[in-house]
Amino acid sequence: MEVVIVPDAAAGGELIAEAMAQLLRRKPDALLGVATGSTPLPVYQALAAKVRAGAVDTSRARIAQLDEYVGLPADHPESYRSVLRREVLEPLGIGMDAFLGPDGTAEDIQAACEAYDRRLAAAGGVDLQLLGIGTDGHIGFNEPCSSLASRTRIKTLTEQTRVDNARFFEGDIEQVPHHVVTQGIGTILEARHLVLLATGEGKADAVAATVEGPVAAVCPASALQLHPHATVVVDEAAAAKL
Ligand code: GLP
Repeated sequence: MEVVIVPDAAAGGELIAEAMAQLLRRKPDALLGVATGSTPLPVYQALAAKVRAGAVDTSRARIAQLDEYVGLPADHPESYRSVLRREVLEPLGIGMDAFLGPDGTAEDIQAACEAYDRRLAAAGGVDLQLLGIGTDGHIGFNEPCSSLASRTRIKTLTEQTRVDNARFFEGDIEQVPHHVVTQGIGTILEARHLVLLATGEGKADAVAATVEGPVAAVCPASALQLHPHATVVVDEAAAAKL
């Protein structure tokens, strides 16, 4: 695992955007796995600036979703599909035809999750998966004690994650769904390159457990230690406990 400490979130965003741009120059139809949350926004902004400047061509790029709330209609503004359309696809000029995501509204959720894993594999697998990290060490929506071999499936959110995410639902925890679908840790580990970005002091404990703790389901992000090509990019605040 490679750990890169950057001065601030903007520098982390620029570093990862440049890695994505280099990948797209090498492989124009690369499948980029993207995450939601506040942390990756500087990455998307820096990559969009490169697209506008003509420094990278996204016309053949493809985007894969990491996780989704169950029960929110796809056009709900806080469904991750909507969030990614707004924050990633539109700024990068990528159409929904190049988007792969799990169906959080399917009647048979388990079958939809299995179908999503098959679609990812049929698409050639994720080339670079960008990850954030929850304050409890979760990646995607794999909460603590998720199996390190897990596949895409339905999960129940912890109270902590619902509290953390209430800010996207007018601060009202009652509006935060209880259930989600998420790529499993085993699914995530199949991406060719994993890049985790963590910024701010609130992530310092989770980062220390990820990088220096044992590989353990209690900290799902520690599974990155098992991956042959994992990069953890942290600002100085998030690196404070390393
Ligand atoms: C959610 C997402 C994760 C994300 C996490 C952290 O739970 N499912 O993919 O990493 O939030 O979000 P933030 O970056 O806003 O702290």
